Amino acid sequence: MQQTLTLRRPDDWHLHLRDGAMLEGVLPETARHFARAIIMPNLVPPVVTGDHARAYRDRILAALPEGMAFEPLMTLYLTEGTDAADVRAAAESGLVKAVKLYPAGATTNSHGGVRDFDKVRGVLETMAEIGLPLCIHGEVTTPEVDIFDREAVFIDTVLDPLRRANPGLRVVMEHITTEQGVAYARSGTDLAATITTHHLVINRNHILVGGIKPHYYCLPVAKREQHRLALREAAMSGDATFFLGTDSAPHVDALKEHACGCAGCFTATNTMSVLAEVFEQDGKLDRLEGFASLHGPAFYRLPVNEATITLTKGAPVEYPTKIETGAGPVTVFDPGFPLHWTVK
Ligand code: DOR
Ligand code: ZN
Repeated sequence: MQQTLTLRRPDDWHLHLRDGAMLEGVLPETARHFARAIIMPNLVPPVVTGDHARAYRDRILAALPEGMAFEPLMTLYLTEGTDAADVRAAAESGLVKAVKLYPAGATTNSHGGVRDFDKVRGVLETMAEIGLPLCIHGEVTTPEVDIFDREAVFIDTVLDPLRRANPGLRVVMEHITTEQGVAYARSGTDLAATITTHHLVINRNHILVGGIKPHYYCLPVAKREQHRLALREAAMSGDATFFLGTDSAPHVDALKEHACGCAGCFTATNTMSVLAEVFEQDGKLDRLEGFASLHGPAFYRLPVNEATITLTKGAPVEYPTKIETGAGPVTVFDPGFPLHWTVK
């Protein structure tokens, strides 16, 4: 039986770090194992301009504990007022690695997102020209559409028309949760998809059966088992279309365990242990490096990391159930099965 696994140091292609005391609390959890991460811009107020992104990157680097190495890959939050020249300058300087599209109202702090795609046409044209990826939260926000159908409907009614209207635009379908998402990601060029750790583990029963479990509530919400299985197949297929974006999204417990609880699973602390367990469960440990360390840099046209991490297998490892941050306690994702792999 395999007892150690050495991988190139992984990257997280979708991460929420927040700001202030929360940033200080959660950053070491990611930097401990990951070399780089695509940093989501949904702060309050959001990271819209190159200047905002530079200031946020500096705050992240200032919060990094001595002796830890970590490179934040910054993104801009697309609004109907985004200036194409600012996006171009921020990308060409190397500061910004992607632009994030939130349909208005889709999730946490997305009210400044896009309603009318005609208003962002110039920005999308610039992005296609310079090869800057657009990271898309792919859910419609129409009240009539059932929350479990919002991803599939988005693909047909928004994403596919958007891609046809913007040839050459490089798109990342963020945190896909459905078999339709998997199939669509496979169908195109200039197209990739991130998959979270938690969507490989939970389906909608985990959220709702036997009492409501707020720490499993995230957006897009976990779907039926058949969709979870499709995500596992995609993540472990070796297809470079699919790579890790944890969407680790910390909220303090008081706001998760609430009458109107926030969306987000906090997985930074144990993601590599959970992934190793999941890939091993399916006999695909040899595919973990591609998913966590190789496919992402290939899509983003960045070098792979030279450093490595080694995981070892042994008696079940106990992770803390929560981490303490200056903003309050944050519950760590519980996969519901023992974890035998730890990063040395
Ligand atoms: O569950 C989620 N949490 N999904 C998102 O899209 C946003 C994120 C957050 O910022 O909390
Ligand atoms: Zn996210």
